[in-house]
Parts: sequence; C-alpha cells; structure tokens
Amino acid sequence: MTGIIRAGFLQFNPELGNVAGNIQKIEALLNGMGNADILVIPELPETGYNFRDYAHAFSLARELSRSVYLEFLVAQSRKRDVFIISGLAEKEGRDLYNTSVLVCPVRGLAGKYRKVHLFMNEKNIFRPGNLGFPVFDIGICKTAMLICFDWMFPEAWRIVALRGAELICHPSNLVLPFAQQAVPVHAMINRVFVVTANRTGTERGITFSGRSFISGPSGETLAMAAPQSDEVTLVELDLSLAHDKMITPLNHAFDDRMPEEYLPLSDPGQK
Ligand code: ACM
Repeated sequence: MTGIIRAGFLQFNPELGNVAGNIQKIEALLNGMGNADILVIPELPETGYNFRDYAHAFSLARELSRSVYLEFLVAQSRKRDVFIISGLAEKEGRDLYNTSVLVCPVRGLAGKYRKVHLFMNEKNIFRPGNLGFPVFDIGICKTAMLICFDWMFPEAWRIVALRGAELICHPSNLVLPFAQQAVPVHAMINRVFVVTANRTGTERGITFSGRSFISGPSGETLAMAAPQSDEVTLVELDLSLAHDKMITPLNHAFDDRMPEEYLPLSDPGQK
C-alpha cells in the first residue's frame, strides 16, 4: 500500500489476574484516543504476565471462541472503526499459547500469531508458536505480528519483511533494557515501520520498562512513551517509505542478500 495511516500504541499497567479490571482500563484509554486506523495493545494485557505456574495461567487463558477479551476487542474495533492488534492468553485443549490477535472492524477476528520465542518462565507455561510468521493484507497495509522477546531473533523480522510486511506490530511486556535499541535496527535493516506496545508496572518481582515506541524505516524513533505512563499515542505513517529498500543507489536491502552463504542458518545443529 502507499497511503498514509494513523497507527499507534496503547500503554498501561495491567493487574495480574484482574481480567475485568484490565478491560476497563483499556476501554478508558480507548475513550480518550483520537481517530486511528490501527492500534497495538501490549502482550497478555487482559491477564497480566507473571503467572505463578501453568495452572495459574490455565485458569486465566481462554479458547478464542469463549474469550470475553476477544469479544471486547471485536466490539471496540467495530465501534471505533479501527484495526486492533493485541496480545492475549490463548487456550487450546490443555495447551496454552502466548498469542496476538488481529481484529478487523468489519470481519472481527482476522488473524492470529502465536509467539515463537518464549522468555524465561513462559517456557514452563506456553507452547512455542506453531503458526509460523504470517503476513496479513488488511487493505490499508500489509502487517505482521511479533511478540516481545521475538525482538532477539532477526530471522523472524526478516521473514515477515520479505513476505511484504510494511508495518510490524509488536505487543510486548519488555523486561530486558535492550529492545528499545534493537527494534529500531530491525526497522532500519528491513526498511519497515514497527509499533511496539509495551506495558508498565511491576508484577511479582518483574518490572516492565514502558517506553512503548514507533520506529520508521530509517531506524528513526517517531514516538516514545514515558517509562510509567498510561497513554495512547498515534503517529501518521507514510507507507510508501517502507517500499524504498535502497540503502545506497547501488545497494538494495533484500536483493543484495546472499542466501547461498546463509545455508548454515537452516541447519539446527549449527553453532
Ligand atoms: C517477554 O518476552 N515478555 C520478555
């Protein structure tokens, strides 16, 4: 796509286990939001993040067909005519996934991604994502979702950029202090826009860094939230800039790759 879209993030401090209260907090922030085309909400915003164990997470996660939070997102998307990307805790049988949903004002649930790279105790709770790295053409843009710790793995960002993503939506609960530096580099190397929606606060000993941000295709920071504020921030993005993959007049970010030299990357035993 080549148009200008208004995209942004919602940042807040969810309370562990208080699904109804967290939905209320999100709705209050949506009430103060201006006109937006696409909004990104953090990872696991309805449940909170730092579950005691699998049983605790299991008691809070929901099948998508029974998720009060997903119903809320669908209603909000329709009412406000905005695409919404949000994390949520997804249950499928006995399996739990750290999922991000894409909600469309017309069609409701239009896509999902399950987090591939699990962080710390998530490994004891969730299964790694099994849907690959999909890209969705939603009419106003081509978009993909990656979740929080996926920021450490450049392969994921490259795959969705090669598949045509112009905007990568990145629901997060960032803990380590590096993503605010690393993600703009992914944006720059792939010449795409990124919206990282992070949470704030402290939960059972883990502190989250806030400072949600929007990166442009030159690695520039177009907006950044405060470390501990509740806010919705929107920025106009000129998507045509994500189509210019030239680094110099003689260097193209994708065409200059040498995949035959990267074959060790596809060997799981390679160190
Ligand atoms: C994280 O992946 N939530 C740190």
